[in-house]
Amino acid sequence: MDVTVAVIGAGIIAEEHLQAVEAVEGLHALAIADINAQKAEMLAERYNTRSYIDYQDMIKTETPNMVIITLPHYLHKEASVFSAEQGCHILLEKPMALTAAECKEIIQSARENRVQLMVGHIQQYFQENRTAKQIVQQKDLGSLVMINETRNLPYFTRERPRWFFECSKAGGGIVMNLGAHCIDKIQWLLDTKVSQVLAAMTYKGEEAGVAADVEGSGLLFLHTERGIPASISLAGYEVIPKQRTELIFTNGMMKVEMGKGVWVSKNGVYEKVASTKETLPFVRQLTDFVRAVKGEGTVKKSGPYAKSIIEVLEAGYQSHEQGKMVSVPPERRADQP
Ligand SMILES: NC(=O)c1ccc[n+]([C@@H]2O[C@H](COP(=O)([O-])OP(=O)(O)OC[C@H]3O[C@@H](n4cnc5c(N)ncnc54)[C@H](O)[C@@H]3O)[C@@H](O)[C@H]2O)c1
Repeated sequence: MDVTVAVIGAGIIAEEHLQAVEAVEGLHALAIADINAQKAEMLAERYNTRSYIDYQDMIKTETPNMVIITLPHYLHKEASVFSAEQGCHILLEKPMALTAAECKEIIQSARENRVQLMVGHIQQYFQENRTAKQIVQQKDLGSLVMINETRNLPYFTRERPRWFFECSKAGGGIVMNLGAHCIDKIQWLLDTKVSQVLAAMTYKGEEAGVAADVEGSGLLFLHTERGIPASISLAGYEVIPKQRTELIFTNGMMKVEMGKGVWVSKNGVYEKVASTKETLPFVRQLTDFVRAVKGEGTVKKSGPYAKSIIEVLEAGYQSHEQGKMVSVPPERRADQP
């Protein structure tokens, strides 16, 4: 029998998920909800589903097996808890919620209502990152001594929905939004947790022409439980776009550039690593989730893992305010809430 799906939020990322629903066998999209009726109707027409303006009404009427939540960050908790209470399995977009306390509520609600919960940390499904992880695990390049992650992307653009610039709705700016991807990538590639954060940010959206109370840049130094230090450099002003991770080992280096490839150097010259044919990341992600929904796999740790990323982000904002290194307490880094 098909697994039925409803999508909550018909914005920019919703379409990636709807395309994945079409591509994964045994899934059937029933409906899409958005407070902006036009957006919901447009996607509903394109994907041959019904449209709603009220997601609660949609869930009660359609009773889908699962929901995909692609709402602004401040609505992640309320939509997840409501969906869990209605017995729907949940694929929730990153970042999990505004605070670790909200994450805990989502995890508890999913447990109490016995629904599967997965947070869409999509970095883990990109072929470049999977290749990089294999190389880290092979240990051919000696001991890993550091990882440096850079993301430059003009953030204060006209195209970006306005809620991204309101701290009460987004939880932060480029660090919250793109930093969540970077922290995931570092923790996942190194198979470790971030233990301490030193961060410095700037809040100059107005100089970029936008009324915003969120940060437009962040420089983060991270200690990890494995003792491998990491840096994250995020810049969202008038920058040249770049998305690069460099890993430095005792016997070489590795460079990962999203959309371009993976390079390894053993003698001072980068050589491109042959890449395998890529399944679309959103299709891979949804396939994993549906296997868990069918009882053929597990996403049990996804909620607590996603919460650990919010804890690192909270420590980062505290560090910026206090001007000193902030620890992510071990009990909060633990897998259980
Ligand atoms: N995985 C990725 O690479 C990736 C990329 C982009 C965005 N995201 C995440 O996806 C989520 C959505 O981001 P987006 O860029 O699509 O934003 P968006 O603003 O384009 O989409 C959000 C949609 O939610 C709708 N909405 C707001 N309040 C609602 C409500 N109460 N009920 C129903 N609909 C409501 C808005 O009208 C909007 O259409 C965020 O968590 C974001 O961080 C992830």
